[in-house]
Amino acid sequence: TTVEWEAESYDMGGHDTYMHKEIHEQVDAVDRVLRGRIDDRFSTVRLGGLNLDAREARGVRRVKILGCGSAYHTGLIGAQLIEELARIPADAEPASEFRYRNPVVDPDTLYIAVSQSGETYDTLAAVQELKRKGARVLGVVNVVGSAIARETDGGVYVHAGPEVCVVSTKCFTNTAVAFALLALHLGRIRDLSVADGKRIIAGLRKLPEQIAEVLGGEEEIKKLAAEYANAKSMMFVGRVRGYPVAREASLKLKEVSYVHAEAYPASELKHGPLALIEPEVPTVAVLPDDDLLEKNRATLEEIKARSGRILAVAHREQEKADHTIVVPRNEVELDPILMGIPLQLLAYHTALALGRDIDKPRNLAKSVTVE
Ligand code: G6P
Repeated sequence: TTVEWEAESYDMGGHDTYMHKEIHEQVDAVDRVLRGRIDDRFSTVRLGGLNLDAREARGVRRVKILGCGSAYHTGLIGAQLIEELARIPADAEPASEFRYRNPVVDPDTLYIAVSQSGETYDTLAAVQELKRKGARVLGVVNVVGSAIARETDGGVYVHAGPEVCVVSTKCFTNTAVAFALLALHLGRIRDLSVADGKRIIAGLRKLPEQIAEVLGGEEEIKKLAAEYANAKSMMFVGRVRGYPVAREASLKLKEVSYVHAEAYPASELKHGPLALIEPEVPTVAVLPDDDLLEKNRATLEEIKARSGRILAVAHREQEKADHTIVVPRNEVELDPILMGIPLQLLAYHTALALGRDIDKPRNLAKSVTVE
């Protein structure tokens, strides 16, 4: 299926910035990436452009995802989803690094290039190098008919609609959902049960409404942004499912507000970055209610013991944190998709409070078509 982009989607629609507009478009955007793809009869997903039949999908031994910037971060979420749902070893790597390290190209690996624009030079060059070496490469791309879409063997369109703001928001979320669809599809061809397929499908269908609920908390997030906007630096931590969310939130804050930020796995904090913690360096902790919650709470205690301030993003109020943004619970595998959204609003309102040029951050371009 193709989705036509309407001309009116380029106007501001009453928003002051494209970033704000695009954050709020996520309810409809996620609905669009799901549309026409769920197959309830077999508790799976149909992906018309994938070009990978069931026999080929069963032969995949490894998945390697390549992209740059936010696209790379969705690849980290995608790799986790593919490992969890399809039980195929998967990882993500910046496309630029991959292509310069003379990678071993393996015929049983499925390569996936991720890109909003489909024109990022480093990602495109990685695709071309892989193709030259005989690899199978799929694309997870937003812009229909773009260079990466044309050069890949097949793939999944993200259908986020045009994204104008330099920093990615709705395309990030839609790409993560596209990866959930791909992971479910591969999982159901392999060993994912009907019951798990149904469970993930129900979770996917809940996403648009839950995104609307998160966006409904904007006023509260705006107040929090004012409170943290003068931080010297911000630390973002998460573990396993929470970690890619922390990475992306840290990038988003840097890009749009110019506040220095770092992201670490919560488990790595004690191996160095803990030395930075002080009242002027607050921590944003991504704490899904999964089997790592207790371990994450111990990290919060370590931060508190160094007088660090903590803003938690969690499924329930965290008493160790100074503030908690509570997000609705979905299925554990899909939680990262929702947990990223309040942190887009945090970056946006921090940038607004600091008077930044939100749609055109300094030194950055939407699509980087040079090396
Ligand atoms: C630039 C943009 C980022 C984007 C990256 C990849 O660096 O500033 O926001 O994530 O390119 O772009 P792509 O179009 O390939 O997703």
